[in-house]
Amino acid sequence: MSDATAAQPLVRATDLAKTFDVSAPWLNRVLERRPRQLLRAVDGVSFDIQRGQTLALVGESGCGKSTVARLLVGLYAPTRGGFQFDGQDAHAAFRTPQGRQLRRRIQMIFQDPYASLNPRWRVQDIVAEPLVEHGLLSGAGELRERVGELLQSVGLSPLDASRFPHQFSGGQRQRISIARALATHPEFLVCDEPTSALDVSVQAQVLNIMKDLQRRQGLTYLFISHNLAVVRHVSDQVGVMYLGRLVELADKHTLFDSPRHPYTRMLLDAIPKIHDTGRARTPVQGEVPNPLDPPAGCAFNPRCPHANERCRVERPVLHAIGGVRVACHAVEEGRI
Ligand SMILES: Nc1ncnc2c1ncn2[C@@H]1O[C@H](COP(=O)(O)OP(=O)(O)OP(=O)(O)O)[C@@H](O)[C@H]1O
Ligand code: SF4
Ligand SMILES: [Mg+2]
Repeated sequence: MSDATAAQPLVRATDLAKTFDVSAPWLNRVLERRPRQLLRAVDGVSFDIQRGQTLALVGESGCGKSTVARLLVGLYAPTRGGFQFDGQDAHAAFRTPQGRQLRRRIQMIFQDPYASLNPRWRVQDIVAEPLVEHGLLSGAGELRERVGELLQSVGLSPLDASRFPHQFSGGQRQRISIARALATHPEFLVCDEPTSALDVSVQAQVLNIMKDLQRRQGLTYLFISHNLAVVRHVSDQVGVMYLGRLVELADKHTLFDSPRHPYTRMLLDAIPKIHDTGRARTPVQGEVPNPLDPPAGCAFNPRCPHANERCRVERPVLHAIGGVRVACHAVEEGRI
């Protein structure tokens, strides 16, 4: 990779934030004297993804991973901050006629392949739809040929084009949604738990196809997963989220070999050790706080074994410490 490409990431999120207004209807609020309620689903997330690389986002349910995904594909507009794609302000571009061009370059793969495929359509029409919508191909012969190529690129047969989604297994259906996502020659794929709904035996197969496509087509991925073993397999960088914020961002090897943030350590302690069978795993302790009433100071303080008075009043910010970015007072103070 040249210095110029290394300097400009394909994706740069800067202070990305999304707040949902989850207040009761106005009349109820007035009659019951209830205040407006805001839920900060994503609260100031910044990261870069270099072309051809994978950033994985991990964290417990409700920490804002899918909201980040939806912001990056333009399904949500940010409440604050933004993201640049290939040097341009993506959310400004999404609102213009050129936004179509950008949407072609950024595609999303969802968790449930069955829900995201129209059951009444043949695979041919499902995979061809983005090509038609973006006006890339229109002739029946061209479309058939391109859909055949796309199906082959995910290990299916061109003959599968005439079948319906219910005639496939879960893993095959997810491969159809990958073929569809690839139809417009995207550069950036946002993958929200793409294998979580699949049997363990087929997860690896789908992940390997995704890695292979990445190598061959130079794709860039944002990869969301609960499963740290999956993350270890696919990622280059890993971002750990807690209650809408990134608490640690590091390259994969550093994060798995020497996690810094107490929350990252808790997540890693909970997974079975492959090489270190002597050590018992420690289940994740405590629960994620109510996002409508987050704790003051560090949001992790009620569950943190290293919390002190400063942690209960002052929110830590992400600092670069030894090549890793960590938001923790104890790490910054050298206490842990
Ligand atoms: N459209 C919405 N309206 C209101 N609140 C929302 C909306 N979407 C998400 N939330 C809330 O925002 C927070 C983050 O949700 P999000 O779906 O991004 O989390 P997640 O990390 O993807 O969780 P999971 O692992 O369960 O998929 C949660 O508290 C959720 O309830
Ligand atoms: S800032 Fe304090 S409470 Fe938060 S993770 Fe670090 S030590 Fe724990
Ligand atoms: Mg989610």
